[in-house]
Amino acid sequence: MAIERPKNPRWCLLLLALCSVVAIASAEVFFEERFEDGWENRWVKSDWKSDENTAGEWNYTSGKWNGDPNDKGIQTSEDHRFYAISAQFPEFSNKDKTLVFQFSVKHEQKLDCGGGYMKLLSGEIDQKKFGGDTPYSIMFGPDICGYSTKKVHAILNHNGNNHLIKKEVPCETDQLTHVYTFILRPDATYSILIDNAEKQTGSLYSDWDLLPPKKIKDPEAKKPEDWDDKEYIPDPEDKKPEGYDDIPKEIPDPDAKKPEDWDDEEDGEWAAPTIANPEYKGPWKPKKIKNPNYKGKWKAPMIDNPDFKDDPELYVYPNLKYVGVELWQVKSGTLFDNVLVCDDAEYAKKLAEETWGKNKDAEKAAFDEAEKKREEEEAKDNPVDSDVEDEDDDEADDAEADDSDAETKTYDSAEPKDDIKSEDVKDEL
Ligand SMILES: *[C@@H]1O[C@H](CO)[C@@H](O)[C@H](O)[C@H]1NC(C)=O
Repeated sequence: MAIERPKNPRWCLLLLALCSVVAIASAEVFFEERFEDGWENRWVKSDWKSDENTAGEWNYTSGKWNGDPNDKGIQTSEDHRFYAISAQFPEFSNKDKTLVFQFSVKHEQKLDCGGGYMKLLSGEIDQKKFGGDTPYSIMFGPDICGYSTKKVHAILNHNGNNHLIKKEVPCETDQLTHVYTFILRPDATYSILIDNAEKQTGSLYSDWDLLPPKKIKDPEAKKPEDWDDKEYIPDPEDKKPEGYDDIPKEIPDPDAKKPEDWDDEEDGEWAAPTIANPEYKGPWKPKKIKNPNYKGKWKAPMIDNPDFKDDPELYVYPNLKYVGVELWQVKSGTLFDNVLVCDDAEYAKKLAEETWGKNKDAEKAAFDEAEKKREEEEAKDNPVDSDVEDEDDDEADDAEADDSDAETKTYDSAEPKDDIKSEDVKDEL
């Protein structure tokens, strides 16, 4: 009945090798998009906002700087526009599986305010109507706005409510490609990676408020009558010094002198003005000492929350079916590429290495070259000793930079309905 062990050790090695091959080969890829030929057949551009003429166009490009001009992605190409595009994959559930959601994003525009996140959606969705109000399951990726918001979003929908991650995860803010990875495991743990390096990890239970708290303060508990929570008490040994109460609060000013021309008859008897007595120390109080009976601050005991019901499938999204980008951008230039939804973090890591990892040094060199050129052009257009030129590039740049605050406001206030910072936080509250 026992499995017979192979006697030949070479068999063992073979078996071992086979097993590891199987382990790698077992990665299940639900969706992988490298934006090669035919990508337009897989992605549906939404009509959302097009009747208001505020739907932005995507540019199929490798960008102004890149490590491989043939490796293209999709880039937002118009300022002050909404973007919504999605792709469908065969519906699956991540029950008993690790869920890995990964993509690369490059903000070529020196992003002042805008998102670089993607969404996973479930069930049936009209992709032509996909927009800011379309319910989603997971929203993940970087978001930048002004100086205050530079973070990685990880918003999870649970029973129809969106929950923001409670931990701060800073995002990359430069103009180069970065890979963002979200891993959700069947043991309800998660990890957030940027460029294959773990930036945050923990539990769904502690880092989101998906469920009511497990333990609460006992609302029935009362502080016992004899609970002594005074840390310091008056020293019973301390005694008021004799004569303490006889010290006057004020005394006649010893330095005052009767004026030469004071006339007792006319002015009345002269008395020195009074001043505060430096000897006077206020009403007597015994000094304070540590209370030997101090029990500490009273806290209600924690009890099991009757409203808490564990959900062993807290991590499960049973009908994942779409991946999409839905953004508002003040300044365009965000380029998405290498979108992956799979069940294997190792596979995702390898894909990141083969794409971003392979190209990153060449991209950085191309970026540095582009920056150098830009600076040279600016210097040429803008000789230091010339102050007669009025409409040069640099001034335009400065004006743009100054505008960023105003643009931040546009994002925050003009589009509150589509602004995740107001919408989702509201949902939370
Ligand atoms: C698309 O991107 C390329 C590379 O950055 C750029 O040269 C081109 O002008 C862009 N096209 C549009 C329509 O924005």
